[in-house]
Amino acid sequence: MSTAVIGTSSDRVDGHRKVTGGAHYAADYALENLAYGVPVLSTTGKGRIVSIDASAARQAPGFIAIITRENSPKLKAPANDFGSWTKLGEARILFADDEIHYVGQYLALVVGETLEQAIAAAALVSVKTVDQAPATSMDGAMDAAYKPKGDDFGPVEYKRGDVSQQTGVAFTVEGSYVTPIEHHNPMEPSATIARWDDEKLTLYDATQWVMGARNCMADMFGIPREDVHIISEFVGGGFGCKGFVWPHQALAAVAAKIVSRPVKIALSRPMMFTGCGHRPETRQKITLAADAQGKLLSLKQEVLSETSPVDEYTEKCGVATPHLYACPNVQVTQRLVPVNIATPTPMRAPGESPGLFAIESALDELAFNMKLDPVELRLRNYAAQDPARKLPYSSKYLRECYAQGVERMGWADRSAKPGTTRDGRYWVGYGMATATYPGYRMEGAALVRLHANGRASVASATQDIGGGTYTTMAQVAAETLGLPLGMIDPALGDSRLPPAPVSGGSMTTASVTPAVKLASEDAIKKIVQLAQETKGSVLFNQKARAANGRVSSFDGAISMTFADVLKAAGLEMIQGDARAKPGKEQGQYSFHSFGAQFVKVRVDPDLGRVHVMRIVSVFDVGRVINPKTARSQALGGIIQGIGMALMEQTHYDHRNGAPVTASLADYLVPVNADIQSIEPTFLNIPDPYISSMGARGIGEIAITGVAPAIANAVFNATGKRVRELPITIERLLD
Ligand code: MOS
Repeated sequence: MSTAVIGTSSDRVDGHRKVTGGAHYAADYALENLAYGVPVLSTTGKGRIVSIDASAARQAPGFIAIITRENSPKLKAPANDFGSWTKLGEARILFADDEIHYVGQYLALVVGETLEQAIAAAALVSVKTVDQAPATSMDGAMDAAYKPKGDDFGPVEYKRGDVSQQTGVAFTVEGSYVTPIEHHNPMEPSATIARWDDEKLTLYDATQWVMGARNCMADMFGIPREDVHIISEFVGGGFGCKGFVWPHQALAAVAAKIVSRPVKIALSRPMMFTGCGHRPETRQKITLAADAQGKLLSLKQEVLSETSPVDEYTEKCGVATPHLYACPNVQVTQRLVPVNIATPTPMRAPGESPGLFAIESALDELAFNMKLDPVELRLRNYAAQDPARKLPYSSKYLRECYAQGVERMGWADRSAKPGTTRDGRYWVGYGMATATYPGYRMEGAALVRLHANGRASVASATQDIGGGTYTTMAQVAAETLGLPLGMIDPALGDSRLPPAPVSGGSMTTASVTPAVKLASEDAIKKIVQLAQETKGSVLFNQKARAANGRVSSFDGAISMTFADVLKAAGLEMIQGDARAKPGKEQGQYSFHSFGAQFVKVRVDPDLGRVHVMRIVSVFDVGRVINPKTARSQALGGIIQGIGMALMEQTHYDHRNGAPVTASLADYLVPVNADIQSIEPTFLNIPDPYISSMGARGIGEIAITGVAPAIANAVFNATGKRVRELPITIERLLD
């Protein structure tokens, strides 16, 4: 029996449940006696609450309670750092004071018998405020710009060499690049159902981080962490907006405590535009200089990004810059501008996505100015080792990515002269960019159980936010145990399982699958031992080993199924456990994924409409556990990149800072008609150092480089360089 399942395109093991309605997302749990919470949101951009009048709401049918700062238990502040797994989406604690900092801030919650009754009653709540003039764009708030402190992921700013040095400079490029506020818009809006059983709290929650939610809730309510149980079996996408803990999660728990019933808060689509973060606006000034051969001499990146008045979120546009190319003089600076808009948060490849838009666009400008092929320019600046850490990469095959992309896109036939390629009345252009994302890994734990019915289960407190974690966990367990994939039952999304990190930073596969492998090996060791020690076993006191899902004698003459061993021993199951963590290799190698994005666009010369006709992407992410789910991840990331390049932008009413495109009708994302041929591939070369599995993450790299590759293709098609996203018709015709 062949049991090679790692590296095969298995269908999602949870696919059947998902398409038949058997998968429960957070809002789907029909708890007994469930009440519905509907928040009262600030319509004031800045000010203070004077009074909240709920007298009319109290008379409304089905009204149960109104929760405000007055009757809420006072919540404690958790440590709020990533390292201790207590990261809040917004540092300001729910109901901290009467101050209002942005439109959409939670001022109160109305709890009703039904959702409709709660909505109706909440509409009757009248909030009196004293208003001040809010700053709703960076333009009006530059005086308040400040230098970020840095965060758990390291410093924001960076310097090596001296970017002002001029020796040998033959070409320079200077440009300012802007990316707008974008929202994650996962298909499943955030939702939380909170239930208290005495002093113990259960949350059915849409989260990318059950352990982070558990720790934050416990610390805020001042109860032992073991007394908080987070359940998040299925998550309909996150992209970062469900990574940290947001006020609605605390609000549901506060309400459930006050009304002594389970309370559900399900964010509406408009609430998703203020309640769980966004990618902040960024403005980057790039100054680069190269010698006559195109070798970079200096690269300077000055970044401005917005944050909120109640937290410090830094969109680290310079995060990839030190590692990207071999360049002796590099400087990244950043300032934050607080505006009265809800707090930003990581969104798919935070930092890299806008950062690479600027740098990879500027490199395209350099290549054009010096009449050098854009791929050749990047090869001339290839970093064979990490120029920032001065360490070898654990594995890097970016050259192969470029070469494969060049070949498959037919890049050699591209005309470097803008506006010279036609398809009927359309202009055609080709562009490319580098993609990159770090290969993060954190400690993760898992358990594997062999059952007397012949099945095996694998479990970890990780999450499957759509990437396919259920399936990859099952694949690794199946192959390691030697059992067919169909015999494995994976469980995750439950804080009582062995702890695993956030499903963010593309680290789930790299962190969790090594633990699954070790736990499977531990289970095998135990079942072999059990066979040898059990009197009724045919392998009693014999040398034995496991192979192909059985325990057998060394010569293979006698063998037993795992189930038979358990039956002989009178046991229902045996459990293997493991924790897997990164080790000294972290100090010896630099872990980064790379890729190349090649784009063909067609532009309507009269209407300025851009259609992305083809994207060829080649990624080096180490070993690919499941090519089918990996491809889906890549498709999603690339399509999100098309949205970033051409459509996505949240617009605000600058009188109060209210988002005015807070629906999927007004906030544009690509639809099927926008998507033509997308052809991602993976080199699938195992990373020898990241872990025993050789797999780095794939969730985020696919979006990186897409927007600049499209902007570069648009330039190639039209001769028009658009440095502000999205590339809309009006910007192109301007
Ligand atoms: Mo991601 S933006 O780390 O969920």
